[in-house]
Amino acid sequence: MTYLHSINQPRDAALAVDQVIRSRRTRKVLGHLHAPAHIPHGFREQVEEAVRIAGWAPFHYPANPIHQQDGLDSCVPWRFYALGQAECLTLAHCLLEDEDGCVDASSTIIRMLAAAGSVVLATWLPEPDNSRKAQQMDEEHLAAAAAAVQNLLLAGEARGIQTYWSSGGVLASSECFDLCNIPLAQKLLGAIFMFPPQTDSNMDNMDVHEGKLRNRRGTPDSWRTWVSLDKKQEQAA
Ligand SMILES: Cc1cc2nc3c(=O)[nH]c(=O)nc-3n(C[C@H](O)[C@H](O)[C@H](O)COP(=O)(O)O)c2cc1C
Repeated sequence: MTYLHSINQPRDAALAVDQVIRSRRTRKVLGHLHAPAHIPHGFREQVEEAVRIAGWAPFHYPANPIHQQDGLDSCVPWRFYALGQAECLTLAHCLLEDEDGCVDASSTIIRMLAAAGSVVLATWLPEPDNSRKAQQMDEEHLAAAAAAVQNLLLAGEARGIQTYWSSGGVLASSECFDLCNIPLAQKLLGAIFMFPPQTDSNMDNMDVHEGKLRNRRGTPDSWRTWVSLDKKQEQAA
């Protein structure tokens, strides 16, 4: 490796990461159950790669042992339940058949299940008690799980997958947890929709919406400041 290489390589890596972060954006793709999306060959494998890399998120506390069971016995404070296209469609039909259900074929969640190549239901794992310590741990469990979800969005973006982090709506219901075999002791952090790249051929009958707050965040100067302790230093002198 040349000297120039050793200088440029980290810079290239930084630029590549920056570009992925910058180009990630919410894309809600709405299809129709009677005409599910065409999902390209290999899409599931791409999602699996993104899921696996997302797991390199930081976490502070191990999950409580009550959550470390049924094969999903990691100490990380999140769980990912990945559905392929067939499972997304089946789930949509099950939710529609539910007599007490609050969705119909025109509901956004149902239309997105029709357009998705995959949905990852990301949960976080609360402490079983309500002590002050447990509350602090829960905040950090949730933060760690959110870091894993952001990793998933970025890993998806880097693979050309269009993503959308939804609070979940009906996907957070006990009925959906039951259908997907998710323990009720877990909490849904987000339903992460994974849509194939948009091409003319797979966008027939699809509507695409962007995140409403995308352009409302302001410049970094409106949410970041460099802290100065000069006055404190003078007082201390
Ligand atoms: C925790 C979380 C939950 C979200 N839930 C929803 C949701 O339920 N509905 C929705 O339209 N957008 C939801 N979003 C996406 C935001 O609307 C979107 O991130 C925001 O508009 C900024 O757009 P961008 O992602 O393109 O930067 C959620 C985002 C986060 C982080």
